[in-house]
Amino acid sequence: MKLLILGGSGFLSGTLARVALAQGHDVSVVTRGQRPLPAGVKPIMVDRKDKDAFASTISSANQSWDLVADCICFSPEDAEQDITVFAGLTKHLVFVSTDSVYQEHPRPFPVSEAFEQFTQLSYGQNKRKAEEVFINLGQKLNWTILRPGHIYGPGSELGCLPEHSRNPDLLGHLKANKPLRLVGGGHFLQMPVFSEDLARMILDCAGKPSTYGQIFNAPGPDIIPSWRYYEIIAEHLGVELKVEEVMISDLLKREPGRLQFCSHRVYSTEAAKNAGLYRPDTPVEKGLKIHVDAKLKASS
Ligand SMILES: NC(=O)c1ccc[n+]([C@@H]2O[C@H](COP(=O)([O-])OP(=O)(O)OC[C@H]3O[C@@H](n4cnc5c(N)ncnc54)[C@H](OP(=O)(O)O)[C@@H]3O)[C@@H](O)[C@H]2O)c1
Repeated sequence: MKLLILGGSGFLSGTLARVALAQGHDVSVVTRGQRPLPAGVKPIMVDRKDKDAFASTISSANQSWDLVADCICFSPEDAEQDITVFAGLTKHLVFVSTDSVYQEHPRPFPVSEAFEQFTQLSYGQNKRKAEEVFINLGQKLNWTILRPGHIYGPGSELGCLPEHSRNPDLLGHLKANKPLRLVGGGHFLQMPVFSEDLARMILDCAGKPSTYGQIFNAPGPDIIPSWRYYEIIAEHLGVELKVEEVMISDLLKREPGRLQFCSHRVYSTEAAKNAGLYRPDTPVEKGLKIHVDAKLKASS
């Protein structure tokens, strides 16, 4: 199929480009040209924040696409731009939203897409407002919304919980036998999703009417306490995991915006199953080993 990715050289978007190319698709990517692109993609260079330039660059490409995957939609304005520019140019658009749209407390266990209480934090609120633009759209464009939780894999930093979230020196810290300071002792449950799996899920949406106008949680297959994420990494390095507990109230006093990490992030995938959509299936042990090996290789 002909795929257009908004993004394409970043973590998730770059992974999506590589997986799509490996599946044999024709892949175009929209970026500002600030990072190297995966070999084999067709570049379209424009800043989406420049609305006029974006509209004219896409229109002058004189193309249409089977699927547009927007990996960098963060606001209702971005969503409106997608609709204005791509209605008529694509059969289907997938918007990568986030589990951060959900209200942190209280929430059901597991959280299904039918849970309609939303966060007050700005990142998740803006993603939710972007979702609402698609939801209120009517028939102009077939859309699908995916809500991943923590995404991991080569190309990103390791770490899923404060105070070691996306810590560039996590491996050095563990190798030095230093304890990790984890909020709530790392007991919050998560379902980290391997980036290549999420890419496959995005691609599997393409042209599936059962996914049109639908929102799907997009977690990984395993429910683990966050400390286990770090223990898997420590095991792979052959070191012992030591954890020091950071009080939840202390973290939130310092950084109220980190509330999204202070709840169990456990999500139902029944909706995706019922739609016949691929559900991420790489076991977290396997995916994290791939991620750690990539980090070790990059630093050697
Ligand atoms: N990371 C997570 O754990 C997580 C969890 C849930 C949801 N998400 C969602 O997943 C998505 C992907 O996240 P990511 O962090 O992996 O992003 P990413 O793929 O790194 O996205 C950045 C890409 O977009 C391009 N870009 C950035 N600003 C642009 C602009 N104004 N105009 C055109 N291109 C632009 C960048 O290239 P240039 O710099 O060259 O322009 C780069 O290719 C996001 O929507 C995020 O909300 C992430």
